[in-house]
Amino acid sequence: MLSKSDLLYLREVVLKKVGIDLSFYKETQLQRRLQFIMLRAGANTVEEYAQLLEENPKVLEDFKNRFAINVSEFFRNPERFEDLRTKILPEVMNIAGSVLRIWSAGCSVGSEPYSIAMVLEEMTPKRLYQIWATDIDDDALEKAKIGIYDEAYFNSMPPIYREKYLEPRNGSYGITPRLKKRITFEKHDLLRDEVRETFELVVCRNVVIYFEEEAKKIAFSKMSRALKTGGYLWIGSTERIPDPSSFGLRYVLPFFYQKA
Ligand SMILES: C[S@@+](CC[C@H](N)C(=O)[O-])C[C@H]1O[C@@H](n2cnc3c(N)ncnc32)[C@H](O)[C@@H]1O
Repeated sequence: MLSKSDLLYLREVVLKKVGIDLSFYKETQLQRRLQFIMLRAGANTVEEYAQLLEENPKVLEDFKNRFAINVSEFFRNPERFEDLRTKILPEVMNIAGSVLRIWSAGCSVGSEPYSIAMVLEEMTPKRLYQIWATDIDDDALEKAKIGIYDEAYFNSMPPIYREKYLEPRNGSYGITPRLKKRITFEKHDLLRDEVRETFELVVCRNVVIYFEEEAKKIAFSKMSRALKTGGYLWIGSTERIPDPSSFGLRYVLPFFYQKA
């Protein structure tokens, strides 16, 4: 069991090195995960672990993987993408002005915003759209901007999108430039940074799962404020908002809420 001061020390180290504020994470899970991660790295003390995190890129990568920090894939939960395509986007189109604006918060390596862009490209009538895709992790954002992925990322992707939007690159696949120019990737902390625009659709999936209740409230309030009236919030398939009306939202479909 890590002591309070060990935890405080690790929180500071991780905030500086990884950019994640562990004080927003549930303490029991945090204890379990940190002990496991330290053991795997071969560290006996938090100071030893901090040094490894600084010096060994593999330890840093293991930390991110163990916190499921960047786990993502194209069309994650494909049945929800079907709901997006057939039920939510047609409604969203009705409230949008000339350009449809979407925010993908906690976009990781970019597979989520790229998948949404593919769906929008296939919709008729076509609409102009712009996606703001944000994350706190610089490495994930770098990968997202490059937009090259190996086969494993596409396991859930319906085949129709493959030929049109992916270009083979030495055994991997690159996202076609026409899609890339619709997305702006930017570093942004959902819990600390302000949002200056409003959107018809905010997507935040599998990001708040490890947050403390207070942090979840901060995140949901921010996302609700960022929505235009009638706009939609899409959350992850293991998440729910217990009292949506307290955020000015109403439940519409599993994992979709609408700004009242
Ligand atoms: C498991 S991934 C989810 C990716 C994608 N949304 C999906 O569902 O496939 C969670 C992402 O949330 C990001 N994240 C965690 N805390 C964040 C915060 N406070 N602000 C912005 N992004 C955050 C992580 O860096 C990570 O890339």
